[in-house]
Amino acid sequence: MRLPDGFLDELRARTPLAAVIGRRVKLVRSGRQWKGCCPFHNEKSPSFYVYDDGYKCFGCGVHGDAVGFVMASSGLQFMEAVELLAGEAGLEVPRPTPAAAEAEKRRLDLHAVLDAAAASFQRRLRLPEGAKALAYLQGRGLADDTIARFGLGWSGDGRGALAADLARQDIDIAMLVEAGLMRESDDGRPPYDLFFGRVMFPIRDRRGRVISFGGRILGDGQPKYVNGPETALFSKRRTLYGLDRAREASRNGAEVITVEGYMDVIALHQAGFEGAVAPLGTALTGDQLEELWRLSPVPILCFDGDAAGTRAALRASEQALPTITAERSLRLSTLPSGEDPDTLVRRKGAAAFQSVIEAARPISLALFGLMSEGTGTSPEQRAGLRTRIEAIAATVKDRAMSSELKRALLDQFYASRPAPIRSTNGTAGRFARQPPQRIWPAVPRPALDPATARDQKERALTAILLNHPYLLPEMEEAFAAIDLSFERASLRTAILQWSSEADMLDSAALITHLTQTGLEALAFQALSAVPVPLPACAAKAAMPAEAASGWWHFFGLLEPDRLESEIAAAERDFNANFDPAGQRRLTALVQARNELRAGGHGSELGSSI
Ligand code: UTP
Ligand code: MN
Repeated sequence: MRLPDGFLDELRARTPLAAVIGRRVKLVRSGRQWKGCCPFHNEKSPSFYVYDDGYKCFGCGVHGDAVGFVMASSGLQFMEAVELLAGEAGLEVPRPTPAAAEAEKRRLDLHAVLDAAAASFQRRLRLPEGAKALAYLQGRGLADDTIARFGLGWSGDGRGALAADLARQDIDIAMLVEAGLMRESDDGRPPYDLFFGRVMFPIRDRRGRVISFGGRILGDGQPKYVNGPETALFSKRRTLYGLDRAREASRNGAEVITVEGYMDVIALHQAGFEGAVAPLGTALTGDQLEELWRLSPVPILCFDGDAAGTRAALRASEQALPTITAERSLRLSTLPSGEDPDTLVRRKGAAAFQSVIEAARPISLALFGLMSEGTGTSPEQRAGLRTRIEAIAATVKDRAMSSELKRALLDQFYASRPAPIRSTNGTAGRFARQPPQRIWPAVPRPALDPATARDQKERALTAILLNHPYLLPEMEEAFAAIDLSFERASLRTAILQWSSEADMLDSAALITHLTQTGLEALAFQALSAVPVPLPACAAKAAMPAEAASGWWHFFGLLEPDRLESEIAAAERDFNANFDPAGQRRLTALVQARNELRAGGHGSELGSSI
């Protein structure tokens, strides 16, 4: 049975391929894709790669999509595999009705119509009638092979030229209307051309098939761009311009970058940024974000450096926040004011845009600036901002992410407190006399003598790792560098030794190991509530992110200079790799620093971190 074309696309889009394959093959992240040992031939080192929409083994050459994998690995027939995956994806496999067969045929026909139109527009660009358009594109700095690669063309002047061209290929006007190239008129006159006197930009789906067009007027005039209407093939809200090429490029390591316009995408690709895409004149939609996340865990959104750009960035963030997690987030970057990516690379070169990209910041760090821009310092305005922070963090569905974001925002909120207001008689203003605001309220405790205080910090650090040993790979270098008391150093040696050999970094296994090596008493002393209860971040029940930032907090208290160099290293690493683990590490470190700054010495111990 033939399935409607759109159905398999939908099925592929709804099937998390890495999860399907991950049931059979142990996969690890490798940059933007996953890799593991090929299940189809015998190998020791992994050469089997899983992408968002397909797998490939560079050892034996097998490749395919989700359906292909299920067939090959379970011996199912095509339709059986489709049924199985559709069931998991909550999709109903369409029954073959004559109407469905007819609809599918229409879609195929529509693709053919759009291909024929694209060819006609491209041909016209090279005719004398297209000379102005070609000169326009060249005048905007596009090389001939760029024009060819993006399939740019010339619409003709709109007196039925396209219909005449395509009539020779048995394409009638009704088909042109259906393909979004001509429009039915209201007053009974014949359908008319949607595009005339315009440079034509074919809009392609993620697989590179033409699904619509955008057309730009030559020079000034309104409307500057006309986009095709919604059709059976084209949904503006689900499409990203440039996605077909960006998808290919992102597999080869290109950064995925969202910009505003057609010309920005093209100019960026020409300048070597082949992961650039753009929505089609609207704010980024949820569907478009999903497309971006299929290419990259942390795509970059690039915005103008003016007030409108800030508003757009905020709107895109609000759109994305409900669905961000530690694994899929966003970075935001800002263009120099007055430039768009197209003008920037043309006037200042690729390096100028490269620095814009390198300055991209994780949404968790960029958001505060966006939210607070233009907010004054009066108590009313500050309270309003605080309320907005609480509200925006509450939109994040992922609970760990939501609370992390709220903390990060509030840290920045408090760090941005207005400077003390000096009243005329020289005493500090009311606002400034408040004790420093704490994010985590301190519980008053009796003061500890310095040696005990240091011991408590060491104890907290150790306890966090005893209860959360999965943090060890991230912390072990820093942990090893701390100047610990003799006994605790021997406990540390045992912990690090275990971590280098253990199969699973599991707390119970670690305690068992320490018990077997005679270090039980030291371990329990580190975990005990005497003389002072451990901070909440050291508890077993603490969230991983809480435990991590708590660890760095105590590390920063013991080794303030090293905390700074850890932050610098994490920043360098994140800017080079942009991986979620790097982002988590950086967030935890920065949070620890903010907390140390906000709390001063009061936060040293016994606080309820
Ligand atoms: P911009 O107005 O920022 O234009 O529109 P641009 O991309 O810099 O265009 P050039 O450089 O002058 O050629 C950004 C995007 O908004 C949509 C288009 O998708 C455009 O690329 N747009 C803009 C429209 O759909 N219609 C318009 O009239 C204008
Ligand atoms: Mn522009």
